[in-house]
Amino acid sequence: MLSKPDVGISTEVPCLTIDGPAGVGKGTVSQALALRMGWNYLNSGALYRVLGVQARQLSIDLQDESALVALAAGLQVRFSVADEKTQVLLAGKDISDELVTEASGAAASKLAPIPAVRAALLERQRDFLQAPGLVAEGRDMGSVVFPHAELKIFLDATAEERARRRCKQLKDNGLSVSLRAVLSEIEDRDKRDRERSVSPLVPAEDATTIDTTVLTVDQVMDRILSMCSERQLFAAI
Ligand code: DC
Repeated sequence: MLSKPDVGISTEVPCLTIDGPAGVGKGTVSQALALRMGWNYLNSGALYRVLGVQARQLSIDLQDESALVALAAGLQVRFSVADEKTQVLLAGKDISDELVTEASGAAASKLAPIPAVRAALLERQRDFLQAPGLVAEGRDMGSVVFPHAELKIFLDATAEERARRRCKQLKDNGLSVSLRAVLSEIEDRDKRDRERSVSPLVPAEDATTIDTTVLTVDQVMDRILSMCSERQLFAAI
């Protein structure tokens, strides 16, 4: 078991972090793990997306830091994980469909580099660390938000494979998209996410990286579950 540094958050509740770039399949794997373990689930990207969508609806300029911080501080988001479809609930209303568009992802990635926004969302994210445990997915879950997590996974895959996966996900949601446009969007987003100065997309030092390019979801799940059992993390599985 890893030592748990004092980071001012509950270290009693176990935490599994799944980080990685856009379109790598973090959501599918994290939701399946949360369901399997009966743990809580945090999709941190959805919080950034909700903020982007709300800012647009309220005509808040992405340069207006204090308005964005106020919005982030009051965000009331919950996730309802289910086999068929995980719902993102904003103040109780299901807004999942608004969040799957590339436009909401692009807005999220533009406000994600703003340090004050990240700081305002930090506590919102840590609020999800509740018994019996948490599966948290994003870019900096293992490196910044939950540095004490017992198991940290970094999922990766080539940009082309991620674009194919994202296209399929969007098509499954009834959105028509071109592979070329999605690939270009993913490459732009990778650049912004990896090169920003605050919480850039990098594996935590103690994370295990899994290249999923030629792996199925079941194969990725098996690897993570076997790491969980090696570390005797989840006796119930
Ligand atoms: O995982 P996603 O595609 O829904 O994330 C949308 C954007 O939010 C992503 O481009 C970067 C940002 N993000 C972040 O900066 N930190 C996180 N922990 C999660 C997402």
